[in-house]
Amino acid sequence: TSTAILIINGTLVDAHGQSKKQLLLIDGKIAKVSETITDTPAETKIIDAQGLYVMPGGIDVHTHFNIDVGISRSIDDFYTGTRSAACGGTTMIIDHMGFGPKGCSLGHQLAVYKEYAQDKAVIDYSFHGVIQHVDEQVLADMQTMVEKEGISSFKLYLTYGYKLDDDSTLKAMARLNELNALTTVHPENDAAIAQRRAQLIKAGKIAPKYHAVSRPLECEAEAIARTINLASLSGNAPLYIVHLSNGLGLDYIRLARKNQQAVWAETCPQYLLLDDSLYENEDAVKYVMSPPLRPKAELEKLWLGLEDGSIDTVATDHCSFTYHDQKHKGVDDFTACPNGMPGVETRMPLLFSEGVSKGRISPEKFVEVTSFKPAKLFGLYPQKGCLLEGSDADIVLFDPELKVNISHDRLHDNTDYTPYESHAVTGWPVMTISRGEVVANHGEFLGKAGAGHFVHRKPFDKNNI
Ligand code: URP
Ligand code: ZN
Ligand code: ZN
Ligand code: ZN
Repeated sequence: TSTAILIINGTLVDAHGQSKKQLLLIDGKIAKVSETITDTPAETKIIDAQGLYVMPGGIDVHTHFNIDVGISRSIDDFYTGTRSAACGGTTMIIDHMGFGPKGCSLGHQLAVYKEYAQDKAVIDYSFHGVIQHVDEQVLADMQTMVEKEGISSFKLYLTYGYKLDDDSTLKAMARLNELNALTTVHPENDAAIAQRRAQLIKAGKIAPKYHAVSRPLECEAEAIARTINLASLSGNAPLYIVHLSNGLGLDYIRLARKNQQAVWAETCPQYLLLDDSLYENEDAVKYVMSPPLRPKAELEKLWLGLEDGSIDTVATDHCSFTYHDQKHKGVDDFTACPNGMPGVETRMPLLFSEGVSKGRISPEKFVEVTSFKPAKLFGLYPQKGCLLEGSDADIVLFDPELKVNISHDRLHDNTDYTPYESHAVTGWPVMTISRGEVVANHGEFLGKAGAGHFVHRKPFDKNNI
């Protein structure tokens, strides 16, 4: 058991408001939230949060640690990945299980992933199921996953090696709806991408910048519209669109919501901050991921979606490879470049700086999209995503004034670059507390491998979001 912690003088922020209260943490839980707390255990450590925001720890619902993508394996495992997350103010991640051998069962992948994470994760974690194929066995196993294993969200890929066709998508969505689980989708039109890719290869256009040309935003927007309609046909199955990168896709989501459909959307810092002009640079492979970076005009549309509530969450899609070795395999041929970028440590500071410090979103909105909504959508609330008595003592202390120039030297992942090198931010997560233990303090990692727990998530409940 941990020593008790009393946080004083801070400004508490949750998704609904701010208050000047003290926070007492005992045995990994928030024991008390009150204006003054006097009845503290004998050995209570006092943390003075004068000038700081005290917020629920970040929940990053989109990571790919230790994933084998065929041509490479991502370089952050559950130790370096969660260490990096913790140092960036994140106290829980939900990783995407994938990809197992062809035809393998959901239970098999869960066992593999529990093994990956168990002695390594420094903060709490869960996994999304990944539907590689649909048959009677998979549809039956979904029930065990949701009801016994606490896995209440599943990912469908509409492109890549394990893409699902409409028949499988419909069956999976209907079954997940019946089981109170959330269907999450990577939406891109596989045929359009395949055609464009073949044409580009034939024309010898395989420099890294052609990765973006091979999958323009219409590929994504078309698949979003199609998926929304398939979800509707599956009895209004709840649907969560991952890594939204463009305004047209966002408009389809808005329309569906206007028609009362149960659709939610996630975007990522890279789509809010970076644009496709980076593919003209010498180091273009650093930014090869799917969906790719978009034309600059799209960024503003996503910010507006965040502000008006059409985008619900900001996650990272952290899927890291080293620049000098792994990404470099794509310098002369984008098809040889493993897709993905690091970002789990920079999500909170970048969104805080570009959003809160620049006056685009409130501190409350920041908590909503980084912690509260993720907790609600993925069956973690009120255990996480809030500062309530009885909730996990997962907390981040943010210094809203601290100015930092991001540099990879100061980050804690296992890659050799950050896409945000030299990016100046105002606001930094100066302390992270996971289940009542200080796991990061002013850039110093203090956590322990294996200290994170596998969190059994509740079923999806659309009436409670
Ligand atoms: O390029 C990316 N995003 N790689 C990770 C897998 C995915 O599509 O989310
Ligand atoms: Zn398997
Ligand atoms: Zn994806
Ligand atoms: Zn992803």
